[in-house]
Amino acid sequence: MLDIKIERTTNPKEKPTGKLGFGKVFTDHMFIMNYTNGKGWHDPRIVPYQDLTLSPAAMVFHYGQEMFEGLKAYKGIHGETLLFRPDMNGKRTNDTNDRLCIPQIPVEDFVQAVKAVVKVDEDWIPTEPGTSLYIRPFIIATEPFLGVDVSDTFLFMIILSPSGAYYESGLEPVGIWIEDDYVRAVRGGMGFAKTGGNYAASLAAQVKAHDDGYSQVLWLDGVERKYIEEVGAMNIFFKIDGKIVTPMLNGSILPGITRNSVLQLCRDWGMEVEERRISVDELLQAQKDGKLEECFGTGTAAVISPVGKLRYKDDVMVIGGGKIGPVSQKIYDTVTGIQLGKLEDKFGWRVVVE
Ligand code: PLP
Ligand code: COI
Repeated sequence: MLDIKIERTTNPKEKPTGKLGFGKVFTDHMFIMNYTNGKGWHDPRIVPYQDLTLSPAAMVFHYGQEMFEGLKAYKGIHGETLLFRPDMNGKRTNDTNDRLCIPQIPVEDFVQAVKAVVKVDEDWIPTEPGTSLYIRPFIIATEPFLGVDVSDTFLFMIILSPSGAYYESGLEPVGIWIEDDYVRAVRGGMGFAKTGGNYAASLAAQVKAHDDGYSQVLWLDGVERKYIEEVGAMNIFFKIDGKIVTPMLNGSILPGITRNSVLQLCRDWGMEVEERRISVDELLQAQKDGKLEECFGTGTAAVISPVGKLRYKDDVMVIGGGKIGPVSQKIYDTVTGIQLGKLEDKFGWRVVVE
């Protein structure tokens, strides 16, 4: 249990009005906790949102020893503040930390910190349809040292951003570019971890995809460039010939919390679900045979995002006439219904911030 000190701002900011974008506006407060070798995590505190002062030699700037998470807070239909499976973000934090040689944080401390800072800024949670308070926990290596080594000191912080849809198109299907040249991650690398380096590795392909009018990149495996992995900020699902199919967790893709939830829901509905290798050739063939029925991405920021178009080299696969399919719509309605407290929470995924 953390003993969190709270310093409230004396200068609260104006809340945003009008259409919210993603991740551009920040609330009045943030959470900070230090780590020092020999002392462990210490001085947990909530302070006014502020810039940081760090040595230019801080190791995070040079070798990227850092991690981040993403989750959301919602206003439920009875006005309560709700989180969705925050313990899963705490567990994934520690899986990432192990890979990046960052000290672990007990899951209950992680969840306590998230709840505490969200509580302080809960009047920043937007309530327009499709909006939420995006929560960004992250850890950076702060020791000033230019040798390649594990830092002796770290900062764990949580910032909050009232946000709208991740894609400007909202629930309109997005176009996705299947990248056949660059790769994001290989098994044994850091693909399963939520660390900035994976996203830095994605930028060159994303620029290429954007220039061609596509929203994001769909990565292929790093060895044969043949098997589907995941999208820039989402896991990917297909409905092929009546079955729900998604790439299995193989070490190089992020084990998404939304992915895990969608799999549980589909199995609970009695749908046939497969987690396995999916080749791009299989998709092209299924498309030719009229069996590629739906495609959607899953992620915290993107929620459930229908994919209307997939480009691979000279082929463009238009899926479901470029419209959201019935299964994608049902999954979107169910996931958001549970998150917002509108539907029964059969799996115990909602957490109330008191
Ligand atoms: N894959 C990548 C690369 C991501 O950045 C995200 C977003 O967090 C996801 C998948 C989806 O994960 P989750 O559902 O836990 O948000
Ligand atoms: C999230 O969905 O929380 C993510 O981290 C995606 C992010 C890269 C915007």
